[in-house]
Amino acid sequence: MRRQVMLFFSMLFVSPVFGQVSYSIPEEMSKGSLIGSIAQDLGLDLKRLKTGKSRLHVGNGAEYIELNKEKGLLLVKERIDREALCKQTTPCALHFQIILENPIEFFRITVEITDINDNAPIFKMSNMLFEISESAVRGSKFILEKALDYDVGMNGLKSYSLNPTDHFVLLLNDNAAGEKEVEMVLEKPLDREEIQHLTLTLTAVDGGEPQLSGTVQIHVTVLDANDNAPLFTQSTYKASLMENSEKGTSLMTVTAKDRDQGTNGIVTYSISSNNERIFDVFEINATNGELRLIGKIDYEISKLYQLDVKARDQGGLTHSCKILLDIIDVNDNIPIIDLMSKIHSIPEDSTFQTVVAVMNVDDADSDMNGEVKCFLSDSFTFVIENTSNGFYSIRTNSELDREVTSQYNITVTCSDEGVPSLSSSVTLTLQISDVNDNAPVFERSSYEAYIVENNTPGLSIFTVKARDADWNQNARVSYILEDSSVNGVPVSSYVSVSADSGVIHAVRSFDYEQIKDFHFRVKAQDGGSPPLSSNVSVTILIQDQNDNPPQVLYPVQTGGSLVAEMVPRSADVGYLVTKVVAVDVDSGQNAWLSYKLQKATDRALFEVGLQNGEIRTIRGVTDKDAVKQRLT
Ligand SMILES: *[C@@H]1O[C@H](CO)[C@@H](O)[C@H](O)[C@H]1NC(C)=O
Ligand SMILES: *[C@@H]1O[C@H](CO)[C@@H](O)[C@H](O)[C@H]1NC(C)=O
Ligand SMILES: *[C@@H]1O[C@H](CO)[C@@H](O)[C@H](O)[C@H]1NC(C)=O
Ligand SMILES: *[C@@H]1O[C@H](CO)[C@@H](O)[C@H](O)[C@H]1NC(C)=O
Repeated sequence: MRRQVMLFFSMLFVSPVFGQVSYSIPEEMSKGSLIGSIAQDLGLDLKRLKTGKSRLHVGNGAEYIELNKEKGLLLVKERIDREALCKQTTPCALHFQIILENPIEFFRITVEITDINDNAPIFKMSNMLFEISESAVRGSKFILEKALDYDVGMNGLKSYSLNPTDHFVLLLNDNAAGEKEVEMVLEKPLDREEIQHLTLTLTAVDGGEPQLSGTVQIHVTVLDANDNAPLFTQSTYKASLMENSEKGTSLMTVTAKDRDQGTNGIVTYSISSNNERIFDVFEINATNGELRLIGKIDYEISKLYQLDVKARDQGGLTHSCKILLDIIDVNDNIPIIDLMSKIHSIPEDSTFQTVVAVMNVDDADSDMNGEVKCFLSDSFTFVIENTSNGFYSIRTNSELDREVTSQYNITVTCSDEGVPSLSSSVTLTLQISDVNDNAPVFERSSYEAYIVENNTPGLSIFTVKARDADWNQNARVSYILEDSSVNGVPVSSYVSVSADSGVIHAVRSFDYEQIKDFHFRVKAQDGGSPPLSSNVSVTILIQDQNDNPPQVLYPVQTGGSLVAEMVPRSADVGYLVTKVVAVDVDSGQNAWLSYKLQKATDRALFEVGLQNGEIRTIRGVTDKDAVKQRLT
């Protein structure tokens, strides 16, 4: 159908002008297609063509056209590509001649080749590459490669379109040569951190019917610009740290992210502070943001550290964050006991709850580590109490008795509540001073002593002893003889007591036969003020001495005369002549009497009873016996 139309056109353009004929055919007609009935159009008969040895004189398109002499037709010999033949030149025509001989005749023939839309627009490159900085401003232009369409006229390149159009739009300009310049204009700025790579499709379309198109991929690589500052992941970092932590301890790592690429995204960290001391204590690894301890941390000096850390990218953009480090107390301080006042000595009669020392206790640690409890080694006699104003007082908690304990070593130990607990202690020595609260006490509840009569006056009989539990003057005992009388005579005329030594002396010589015993009391008195005393009863027993000879009471002898007794001659054996009775004023054995015949005229005649003093005959009296017998 199309071809017929074209034929119609070709007929229309036949110039019946003698010697010249023009045709117009579309390109790309198949081999053998009819171009025109040349014989008819030239008014030649077919015979003339044959005889005239008609031939085509090759012009520029000889290979495309052939002459069918038999039918007088011009036919397509080879497919004609207008674009190959004429490129962009229009009109595109083949010029040649038909030459006849006998007679020589020639005719100009022009075959115009009209364009058909047989070429799509094409791009020479399979893709276009662009590297565009993200900092490129809106309106930046990028020249794109043009498309080619070998067709001409309506079939030639008509327009372009770009897809997607998020960032770029197309700008078409006609240049001086009348060609369309195609440019890509940045409409919305790029952000590498969002999109690193864009692929766009540029489509070129022609004006043919149907329309043909060609595409090319535009690859845009977005180049980084340092448009992002580093950004810390947290504005404030917090951590806690034990005081006395080892040097080199890693505390935390801060991180700042920089969305840029390459050197623009390389972040270095540094501590920024006005306080030079911070740099002696902390160090940050510039590369990885790791914070390390390089100095000593003492909770008692600082409980909190605040650091500013700066992150900087290579392009010079910075961001900073804060680090708050809470220092945790470690129980590294012992309680310190400050004895503010103490008494060296208190009297033993001090009242209950007497304050003996006041002290202050300090522990530099905090909380439980600084909470201190104090206790005493002797919590019976003394108590420790905290007073409202934060001091501790040590008071007596029981009666004191110097005679039991004269000195106390009070050890105060204060421990904190840390784990492990630290403690310290002090010892204070308290002397208990004496009060005269003990009377002298005799060693015995009563004394009994013996003295042999006829003693020499001044003889020491024995010693009484009293002890006093008090001290020094309060314990200095004096002995005093208590007034009393013995048989109406003051006792002091019998005995005396040495005040210092308690030695009791006889003042006189005693006669057992006059006094056998007597009592008195001795008082022991100490040197206290007022003095205390006690007394003891002393009994002196006088011992007998054999100081009295027996005395014959019977028979009574008067003035050196002899005593006469009568014995009858008839007296039997055992006749009781008389009984000698004697007494002895001494006592005991000293008064035990025995009788012996000392002298006798005839010892065989009388005997005396050893015990009873009876004088008896021991044989009968004979005439031979003397009348007078003398017995002693
Ligand atoms: C900082 O950290 C990096 C990476 O962990 C390490 O290679 C470097 O030795 C550290 N620098 C210092 C001074 O510790
Ligand atoms: C004093 O001691 C009492 C108990 O003995 C205790 O409850 C109180 O907290 C202490 N006060 C001080 C200031 O230590
Ligand atoms: C108290 O301490 C002193 C000195 O250390 C010591 O001589 C004394 O015997 C101690 N007294 C008591 C009652 O422990
Ligand atoms: C002697 O001591 C007793 C108690 O032991 C006392 O009752 C008496 O009064 C004392 N005598 C004198 C003279 O002090």
